[in-house]
Amino acid sequence: MSKPDFPKSFIFGTATASYQIEGAAREDGRGESIWDRFSHTPGKTHDGETGDVACDHYHRLDADIALMKELGVQAYRFSIAWPRIIPDGEGAVNQKGLDWYARLADKLLAAGITPFATMYHWDLPQALEDKYGGWRSRRTAEAFARYAGVVVAHLAGRIRHWMTLNEMPCIIFLGHKSGFHAPGAQEPDKVLNQIQHHCLLAHGYGVRAVREHGRRHCRVGVVHNPGIKVPVWETPEHVAAARTAFEATNLGLLAPLARGAYAEAWLKEAGPNAPQVEPGDLELISSPTDFIGLNVYGGSFTQAAEAPQGYRVLDFPPSYPHAHADWIKIVPQALYWGVRFLHEVFGYQKVYVSENGCAMDDRLADGEILDTDRMMYYRQYLRAAARAVAERLPLKGYFAWSLMDNFEWAYGYSHRFGLYYTDFQTQERTAKLSARYYAACIAARRVL
Ligand code: FCB
Repeated sequence: MSKPDFPKSFIFGTATASYQIEGAAREDGRGESIWDRFSHTPGKTHDGETGDVACDHYHRLDADIALMKELGVQAYRFSIAWPRIIPDGEGAVNQKGLDWYARLADKLLAAGITPFATMYHWDLPQALEDKYGGWRSRRTAEAFARYAGVVVAHLAGRIRHWMTLNEMPCIIFLGHKSGFHAPGAQEPDKVLNQIQHHCLLAHGYGVRAVREHGRRHCRVGVVHNPGIKVPVWETPEHVAAARTAFEATNLGLLAPLARGAYAEAWLKEAGPNAPQVEPGDLELISSPTDFIGLNVYGGSFTQAAEAPQGYRVLDFPPSYPHAHADWIKIVPQALYWGVRFLHEVFGYQKVYVSENGCAMDDRLADGEILDTDRMMYYRQYLRAAARAVAERLPLKGYFAWSLMDNFEWAYGYSHRFGLYYTDFQTQERTAKLSARYYAACIAARRVL
């Protein structure tokens, strides 16, 4: 047999987020989050759906960890709900919240699964939104610093892998520009840039919390969804064009994170809307991290061009293959180029694909979901991961999004991303064909 595609040390996992799966929205002292408020506001989510119950994961830990065992994953990425830990964002700590995550981690460890905890996956305590304007205010980043310190201090004995904020672009643009996500705001650029700065600061505080309260063996990084530019085909000129485009597109967040300064070009474009920065902020923001989490769903084709910037990003034709969630164009190479450019352009020495997956139009028939479409998607993206590994790029793990169908934000329950099908009436989970496929690949350490 030839060498496997993925070495033993490569981590396969699956990912979820608190508000999308836990339910138990009013239990054990949990405070209100901006997603509770938003989803309960008429007209904001598909059919007015909310995460009140979601997958009821809060009460089904054992059964859900059994699913992970069945997949054979080595790791599980979940997020900690800030409003369970500090219900009003900055006041008293709720021991019951900490206990629940400690229990989750213990059960994972007992099952031989390594926990990867995200500190913030969008469920901001509503009290911080009401009091300070949420991420518009530096106070929220400071409240996050305390929250991060509390969770790391209590959980670092069990959880060694920490992820700070999930997908800052979504917090900034979906939350505060289009208003498609909570808190549903529409702010001008000046405010958006300040929100960005506060998110970056919070990340820096998260890293600091891990260094201060974590044991020496703890690892930390951010989870990002950069705009991935894929060479239209792989000749040196198009590769160079895609690299230039990747850098230009992603400077806003990656320059402060990876280079310790806002990029000249970005500041010039922001002009009078540039954020207010205090002394020491950029040192904190660029604190050395151990890895970066890359969330990858699609990407865009980029061509060398006469244009002054040297490239052209192509629009997709209407019939370009996409998932049921039509924002997901099927561009498997994006995984490879995302990893490669994060490494080559921004110097990241360790990358985990922290999310990859798709929503398909799943049909339960005779107790089965034969989602060959999702399987095709996973196969192609896993091939791109295998290529990255074969070329010795620093890709160390891969997390499929998601363990089970769950509350897909503004799309409610209409978009199913799971490896397991969730019946939201009975809470029964059923393995889709793609779950069996992923398990087989994990067992073989190959793309099958
Ligand atoms: C990402 C989010 C995740 C999930 C997937 C489909 O942007 O991080 O929570 O909604 O998309």
